[in-house]
Amino acid sequence: MALERTLSIIKPDAVAKNVIGEIYSRFEKAGLKVIAARMTQLSRKEAEGFYAVHRERPFFNALVEFMISGPVMIQVLEGDGAIAKNRELMGATNPKEAAAGTIRADFADSIDANAVHGSDAAETAAVEIAYFFASTDVHAR
Ligand code: TYD
Repeated sequence: MALERTLSIIKPDAVAKNVIGEIYSRFEKAGLKVIAARMTQLSRKEAEGFYAVHRERPFFNALVEFMISGPVMIQVLEGDGAIAKNRELMGATNPKEAAAGTIRADFADSIDANAVHGSDAAETAAVEIAYFFASTDVHAR
């Protein structure tokens, strides 16, 4: 499997539940390394830009409101097959459909407050990482 990088966001609901460490532990146990990290409160402009592909979707405004409702923890994860591995750890978008033991099954309340974001492909991962991190703040190790 190829060494990959992916962008992960622990969303406001999971930060509020105080499970940042629990989620980081799952990344590390799965062989993913945190190679950049930043806690921030997204501006409306940042959240709208990040989710621009969903601009026409009916849930867009609610999604943006949710993403700016409290601090988020943003990280770059690196590892073999990191993009798919992180998606597997996250579970399905709707926590009701997420497999047992996944982050969303354990910590998400609903499809709109679903605990984590993870890039879905190599191209989006590269764009999303560059959206939040300067290359000098990403530390291969
Ligand atoms: P999407 O990219 O489809 O899911 P994922 O986060 O698993 O890659 O959707 C992005 C986010 O939009 C999703 O995490 C939560 C929100 N969303 C809703 O609020 N309602 C919906 O019906 C869908 C599909 C997504």
